[in-house]
Amino acid sequence: LAMEAPRRMGAAPVDEAVAELAPAKINLHLHVTGRRADGYHLLDSLVVFAGAADEVMVEPGEGHSLRLGGPEAGALAAEPDNLVLRAARLLAEAAGRDLPGAALLLEKRLPVASGIGGGSADAAAALRALNRFWGLGMAGPALEALALRLGADVPVCVASRPTRMQGVGEVLSAAPGLPAFGMVLANPRVSLATPGIFAARTGPFSPPAVLPARWADAAALAEALRALRNDLEPPAISLCPPIAGVLEALSALPGALMARMSGSGATCFALFADAAAAEHAAMLLPPAWWRWGGGVRAAA
Ligand code: C5P
Repeated sequence: LAMEAPRRMGAAPVDEAVAELAPAKINLHLHVTGRRADGYHLLDSLVVFAGAADEVMVEPGEGHSLRLGGPEAGALAAEPDNLVLRAARLLAEAAGRDLPGAALLLEKRLPVASGIGGGSADAAAALRALNRFWGLGMAGPALEALALRLGADVPVCVASRPTRMQGVGEVLSAAPGLPAFGMVLANPRVSLATPGIFAARTGPFSPPAVLPARWADAAALAEALRALRNDLEPPAISLCPPIAGVLEALSALPGALMARMSGSGATCFALFADAAAAEHAAMLLPPAWWRWGGGVRAAA
């Protein structure tokens, strides 16, 4: 009998490449409930994650480096300080010891600056990937605390499962029980900067949403969501009128149960009874748009 090689316990070997998906973050509703003294807005949002995703890969390398690939990488090339590299530096600092070099590759498939948390999801995926690559063994809450320093939306992306998000994004609790449903995403290929959309919001703040413990099926979920809203949708439409056309096109798709903008836009989504219906419907949208149809990641 051959002797079994001694197995490393706990820490992951650092000489192996690791990969983590960075799924699109969708705000099924987004109520702006107030504003902090520092200008950040208080939110109440039910967040789910779509099958559409970027991917972050790490392999051994010198120092921290980042290569970009994928169909949407062009929009990022000009950015000197990508959130993925900031995540790497932050995690290395928190580890407080010498760590091997990490060569990061970001496969960018989600449109940039589009309300589905691409940059936030990438940063969260980088934290998860490097936590494994370096064998740091940091638990979810510790990663979420680091994530908050990278952006309000990054903590919710660490677990990438259905979550109710409150505070400025750091107060996370379990989402109500969600039925199976499908989703179409559409972006008219305009990028919007989040601060400008928040600044253009007017009128009184919204109350938090009242949510049940669970929804029986996709139709019941859609009906409940129709009574809620995304408070950033009106300011986004006034700054970017094509969003209204995207919402119209989504609502007109066969089988669409409801349509809404996600985050600060311009990406909008429509709900469907299942992933197959959404996948078919997405193909009916204008090919010049970024469009995607499929399923949603379930609770863990
Ligand atoms: O945290 P992040 O860098 O993603 O936020 C970008 C900008 O969006 C902030 O500088 C702020 O203007 C606005 N924002 C906000 N309230 C939040 C999240 C973001 O006002 N909860």
